[in-house]
Amino acid sequence: MGTQKREEIMVSREELLHQQEFEKKVSALLKKQYPSRMPMAYVHSYGCQQNISDGEKIKGMLAMMGYGFTDGIDGADLVLYNTCAIRENEEDRVFGNVGALKHYKRRNPNLLIALCGCMMQQEHIVEKLKKSYPYVDLIFGTHVVHKLPENLYHALTDGKRVFCTPESDGVIAEDLPVRRDGSIKAWVPIMYGCNNFCTYCIVPYVRGRERSREPEAILSEIEGLIKQGYKEFTLLGQNVNSYGKGLDEEINFSELLRRVNALPGDFRIRFMTSHPKDASRELIDTIAECEKVCNHFHLPVQSGSDRILDLMNRHYHREDYLALVEYARKKIPDISFTSDIIVGFPTETEEDFQDTLSLIREVEYDSLFTFIYSKRVGTKAAQMEDPTTDEEKGRRFQQLLDVQKEIGQQKYDKYVGQTLRVLVDGVGKSGDGYLTGRTENYVIVDFPGNREDIGKFVDVTITKALNWALLGEAKPVE
Ligand code: 5AD
Ligand code: SF4
Repeated sequence: MGTQKREEIMVSREELLHQQEFEKKVSALLKKQYPSRMPMAYVHSYGCQQNISDGEKIKGMLAMMGYGFTDGIDGADLVLYNTCAIRENEEDRVFGNVGALKHYKRRNPNLLIALCGCMMQQEHIVEKLKKSYPYVDLIFGTHVVHKLPENLYHALTDGKRVFCTPESDGVIAEDLPVRRDGSIKAWVPIMYGCNNFCTYCIVPYVRGRERSREPEAILSEIEGLIKQGYKEFTLLGQNVNSYGKGLDEEINFSELLRRVNALPGDFRIRFMTSHPKDASRELIDTIAECEKVCNHFHLPVQSGSDRILDLMNRHYHREDYLALVEYARKKIPDISFTSDIIVGFPTETEEDFQDTLSLIREVEYDSLFTFIYSKRVGTKAAQMEDPTTDEEKGRRFQQLLDVQKEIGQQKYDKYVGQTLRVLVDGVGKSGDGYLTGRTENYVIVDFPGNREDIGKFVDVTITKALNWALLGEAKPVE
């Protein structure tokens, strides 16, 4: 682990040029196959932002090969699902949606069906797809996204199904084309993979070892996006706090944040995800000192019970976590916290669960992402005894939601009367003529406004707190 050489990690220029040759071949092929119209692709990414970001690269490559994009399966010539393996229900959703494609394929035998993403790095899943879903034409894994042109070429020409899911510690492919989903906020991966092996988690098995992009590559990508008018960058990694390990240059995540912050322009910086065991005082100081870094910290705690945290292999205890939160609140009084919580980890008792509730009461999170534990094949936790019934887990889950709802409401109420800077990113759900955006604290704000303000920062005075958002009025420009 961690012994991979840099030249083994970086996809070579030759390989990328090789793929560009295939890009041209596919493009020529498609022009012949669709002489009077553009072939259309329907691409859907499930799961986390890393996956969404991969999906944007996939769409970038497809666009280079001549595909246009549709919002639905009807009328698509290529359907590609970029899958997620984090929990069973995500996988079930994918299988359900792939099952539904059978009938589309029957209606249009030329429809090409492709699956990629985290699920495809699991042998038992690929076996099931091979056996029971014969109409899936192309399957490729997380380590060969950059080889899409070659794989697609074979799927279009070989007359047989293509499977490309090699095991790997992971690679980095720079300079792939990207077709981003929005024009205001951009995802920017700074590292890939994970070395933490939390006992419940499939990610290290499906995304390989931790590896960081060169700072120059990250900075020049962001500079390009600033020029295009993007206003918010979320730096992505499974554990951004270990950014920089294995690079020739001595650099850590705080230093990277400082360098992004120093780029000229009016924009915001966010980052996710942080592992509490590696979140340092230096990082908090850096958030405090860098004006473009948002005062919001997504710091997944998973559980408030030390016994469960040990079983999860998290390498911190609740006191360490609470001390970090306290330090952050002292340094940055208006910082907001959000977190991920897993309920019903194997052997979790009522007492362990009460520890989680007491922790969330103590931290007072603005909001939580809550999950019921899901057994993942191949992980350590899958071997553990799990005597708690589903009913009991469901009850705990509901109680967690109820407690957080109360905390979140109190937090949101405190924003009423304040004037907050909102990056407007679209049309609001609260009524006709409403816009929506997020504050630096990651809270959604809806307010009446003019569509011309989409993509701008607007100061909004908060008038009312709902349980999912704040309502406000734009402050008149003085
Ligand atoms: N079961 C339930 N939740 C999980 N997560 C990761 N693996 C599992 C699992 N097996 C949650 C964690 C993580 C978030 C992205 O998903 O809370 O932080
Ligand atoms: Fe899902 Fe994890 Fe893969 Fe993201 S990295 S898509 S959350 S399995």
